[in-house]
Amino acid sequence: MRLKPYGFILSLSSAAKAPPKPAMAASSLARTSADFHTSSAPPEPPPPPQDLDDDLLCSDPRARDREPADGAPPLPDGSPSRCLSAGSRAERAWAHWAGLGRPRLIVAPMVDNSELPFRMLCRKYGAEAAYTPMLHSRIFTETEKYRSTEFTTCKEDRPLFVQFCANDPDILLEAARRVEPYCDYVDINLGCPQRIARRGNYGAFLMDNLPLVKSLVQKLALNLNVPVSCKIRVFPKLEDTLNYARMLEEAGCSLLAVHGRTRDEKDGKKIRADWSAIKAVKNALNIPVLANGNIRHMDDVESCLQETGADGVLSAETLLENPALFAGYQTADWIVGSEESHKDGHLDQAQLLVEYLKFCEKYPVPWRMIRSHMHKMLGDWFKIHPQVRDELNAQSKLTFEFLYGLVNKLKDLGLRIPLYVKDEDVVRISANGSAT
Ligand SMILES: Cc1cc2nc3c(=O)[nH]c(=O)nc-3n(C[C@H](O)[C@H](O)[C@H](O)COP(=O)(O)O)c2cc1C
Repeated sequence: MRLKPYGFILSLSSAAKAPPKPAMAASSLARTSADFHTSSAPPEPPPPPQDLDDDLLCSDPRARDREPADGAPPLPDGSPSRCLSAGSRAERAWAHWAGLGRPRLIVAPMVDNSELPFRMLCRKYGAEAAYTPMLHSRIFTETEKYRSTEFTTCKEDRPLFVQFCANDPDILLEAARRVEPYCDYVDINLGCPQRIARRGNYGAFLMDNLPLVKSLVQKLALNLNVPVSCKIRVFPKLEDTLNYARMLEEAGCSLLAVHGRTRDEKDGKKIRADWSAIKAVKNALNIPVLANGNIRHMDDVESCLQETGADGVLSAETLLENPALFAGYQTADWIVGSEESHKDGHLDQAQLLVEYLKFCEKYPVPWRMIRSHMHKMLGDWFKIHPQVRDELNAQSKLTFEFLYGLVNKLKDLGLRIPLYVKDEDVVRISANGSAT
């Protein structure tokens, strides 16, 4: 079944009007971002009491400027990779990647956090491609409300990877067919290490069932018009990782993102990603390979690309705090002790948050996602004025007026924490604020 372009966004109106009743399967699944938090920072304060309000959309999608609805975006080059030799498949994988402009700076998939408004903010500040949050393939095929609230996109939201978790090839294909007109890759999540993935038998727990993984990849590669990509974690033993990666390539994977931590290495802030394993995978494969782990500023990007030879990098946790990372901005954390000189970049997280809120007004998302970004982007600000965070937590029903007011309150308190740029940095943002 083919949906109209942007039909996901335009079909949200019924969800926006729906009474605040829990859509059990969808909301319990969607509310998994905490499961992904790998930070060693003190836990965030408990959610406000009536958090069901947070599952409502932040604005009426009918109010936004409608995108032209004439004709689906052109399908990417290529057709199912039946009967192609390994060499031709790799060639096609590279041609597709080149056709997308070989993006190197990529927003990683993040449940509840790499949603459309956040992707658009990161794209404005230098991101060259982005992943959606992980979508649950079975719920995606079964539940219209889940589809329309958890997957939205627009024509500027490209190149785009749409990520699914799955353990049934037929269901995965059915889900993938619904999104293929709107994306450049359908991605399989093979890296989620959390309990919810163990219970659901997906993500990194499929590393115990490689024949199933192979059948998932093959199913998509043989039947979709867009290429299939995978995101994996590494095995403790390098040889196992390399065999795994080769198997994925042979099964039809056209691009592989490697998170250089094992399934048991969940604390991303404490445990460094193993870039040498990523380098070995890159050397062993013929398709594009992306590196993930420990990308906190542009110096990390350069060293990672150099050390691993990877074709691009994914950033997750740091990007949440600093969505302008790929434009060369960094938080004070990374310049303390640095030998290079830095200067105030005349941009800060409160400004970025206001820009994010404006994207949310245009591209509606559930309030819980906005709440999560408020905490991430303003975390350092809230440490200085915890009463403002308490106010946010006490507010069970969010509004834009309240959120803009909160940012103003921080400013009125005289607080400003700048983002910094290197003195010689040429910032990749034009004077009028658009991406260059
Ligand atoms: C809030 C959050 C949500 C995440 N959700 C997903 C997800 O949906 N799919 C996925 O493959 N990885 C997910 N991850 C893992 C990241 O994509 C990434 O692999 C990991 O955080 C390591 O990158 P980093 O060192 O830049 O944080 C998530 C991470 C965070 C912090």
